[in-house]
Amino acid sequence: MNEKPGIDNPQRKLIVAIDGPAGAGKSTIAWRLARKLGYVNLESGAMYRALGLKAIEQDASFEDEDALLKLAEGSRIRLEPTIGGNRTLLDGRDVSSRIRERDVTEAASRVSVHPKVRAWMVARQQEMGAGGGVVMEGRDIGTKVFPHADVKIFLDADPVVREQRRMEQQKLKAEVAASVAAELRERDRRDRTRAASPLVAAADAVVIDSSSLGEDEVLARAEELVKEKLSD
Ligand code: CDP
Repeated sequence: MNEKPGIDNPQRKLIVAIDGPAGAGKSTIAWRLARKLGYVNLESGAMYRALGLKAIEQDASFEDEDALLKLAEGSRIRLEPTIGGNRTLLDGRDVSSRIRERDVTEAASRVSVHPKVRAWMVARQQEMGAGGGVVMEGRDIGTKVFPHADVKIFLDADPVVREQRRMEQQKLKAEVAASVAAELRERDRRDRTRAASPLVAAADAVVIDSSSLGEDEVLARAEELVKEKLSD
């Protein structure tokens, strides 16, 4: 009996990769999709953020690739999905809120350019998602972490829309909004132009432009893709 598992076979646990730039809505969609499917949502960016925080705390240079790799190797970075949201633990400490702050956001973007750091992160992420039943989001999930992911979504949106969303999400005051928008643009530029796994849609990813789509519409499209895969 070699029956292909299908939509009626919940035993089949897919790997869903969601990549895209900041502010495209990845986190919300990944979280909601994971909940619908009963999957785990893993935010790979939180790992780079945790390492960025450690680099800040240990006064490590963002340019020193070997020192950053050592720092990563000596750290316990854990993503803990809970019913109310995802927690990030760094050496046993809950850093979930701290890693969303501006200095850590910048640090994450800077430490993530280094190939050795990326290789370390990718290996951890592959271990975490290997069993399937996971919606993993980031920049290189469909290209590097899980090039054979069952479903690959590249979630994009117009830069102005993305900046606007970030402002609203973080309830930023007008005084800081402009500089946060500039930081987001710079981070995007760095993500897209770095030599090691730049942010790019995998050739077989489905691109969803969320500029003029509501959250529910994007979620419905993502669910459709999963259903199609399950009924293959
Ligand atoms: O939430 P947001 O999209 O702003 O950022 P994030 O997903 O938490 O990622 C923070 C930074 O980590 C990004 O700007 C990237 O530089 C880096 N990152 C990466 O290089 N590769 C990933 N798979 C995830 C994040």
